Amino acid sequence: MKTSAVFSNAVATIGGGFRRETTSISLFSRNTLSLLPRNKLKKLQHQLCFNFPNTTTTINSTSNAHTIGMDSPRSTPSDTIDINWDTIGFGLVQTDYMYTMKCSLGESFSKGELVPFGNINISPCAGVLNYGQGLFEGLKAYRTKDDSILLFRPRENASRMINGAERMCMPSPSIDQFVQAVKKTVLANEKWIPPPGKGSLYIRPLLIGSGSVLGLAPALEYTFLIYVSPVGNYFNKGLSPINLIIETEMHRATPGGTGGVKTIGNYAAVLKAQGVAKAKGYTDVLYLDSVHKKYLEEVSSCNIFIVKVEERRIIVDELLNADEVFCTGTAVGVSSVDSVTYLGKRVIYGRDGADLVSEQLCSALTGLQMGLVEDKMSWIVKLK
Ligand code: COI
Repeated sequence: MKTSAVFSNAVATIGGGFRRETTSISLFSRNTLSLLPRNKLKKLQHQLCFNFPNTTTTINSTSNAHTIGMDSPRSTPSDTIDINWDTIGFGLVQTDYMYTMKCSLGESFSKGELVPFGNINISPCAGVLNYGQGLFEGLKAYRTKDDSILLFRPRENASRMINGAERMCMPSPSIDQFVQAVKKTVLANEKWIPPPGKGSLYIRPLLIGSGSVLGLAPALEYTFLIYVSPVGNYFNKGLSPINLIIETEMHRATPGGTGGVKTIGNYAAVLKAQGVAKAKGYTDVLYLDSVHKKYLEEVSSCNIFIVKVEERRIIVDELLNADEVFCTGTAVGVSSVDSVTYLGKRVIYGRDGADLVSEQLCSALTGLQMGLVEDKMSWIVKLK
């Protein structure tokens, strides 16, 4: 049931570097706890935060991806694309290239290639289609003001995929293979990386059982695939605080289940609760643990942090008394929570002009990701 995502690990690592002080703030992400003293947070205040509205995006690429040699293609920013970066949200914008690499069960991945972005050919009997044998990852590439391209902790995504692959009985690319493939895919699609401050290139690595398998068993062939899409804000209302409802019947993770790995089925399982919540006007759903039905787990698409002044497991009643609540995720970024509704009772988190931890974290993280502050942790990978 430990489901910490890479992004929350980043937050936990920041906090974990400091000792607890009386003025410290406890950040709880499901079962993960870390400390971030307020004075340290204050130092991180003066960096940039993204801000863009989220509406339909129209794209018109002038490139022709179908006639290019695939060894190391590379788009340049001067290749023109017609895209309104101010209105881009979180939807698929097709780019030029994707990366693909195959291997058989019991063997290791060895050589992958860039191919034009497009549909893949797969047996109706594939393991991923029939039995959900698949994992995904998510990370982002950012363009800086001096036109460098930065990745945020890609090796952490690679190692999370390796852990997940072990649980799902799949071979996985090595950390170096994963990172090299990400770099190649990003550079090949470089022109699709939004300008600084306008968003990022979302990178979606997939690992799937692509071989056919009728009886329940691991597939005999696996495909590692990476596609990318420029994105802006995840939630519809830009960076406005979100409204969550706590789900009391359906659970996202169970003991011994696959909640701790990023398998595709975990996400289909939340669609029902998410759909009901959205129809009622909530932004997303917060899940409770499936055993005690009172400990906070996570939101459908991201982690949750609550700001309290004590260090211990947090039950739902305490959430309702928290000083501040926010969510994090690769796709979502850092999103402040405006309200949580539980059993019909709505709690709104006051702002009162106070310094919000979420804003300071957002500034600190985007400052790092955009190359605006010094990376003392060696988390940033510079592509060019
Ligand atoms: C993530 O950001 O970690 C996600 O898994 C997002 C995805 C559900 C869109």
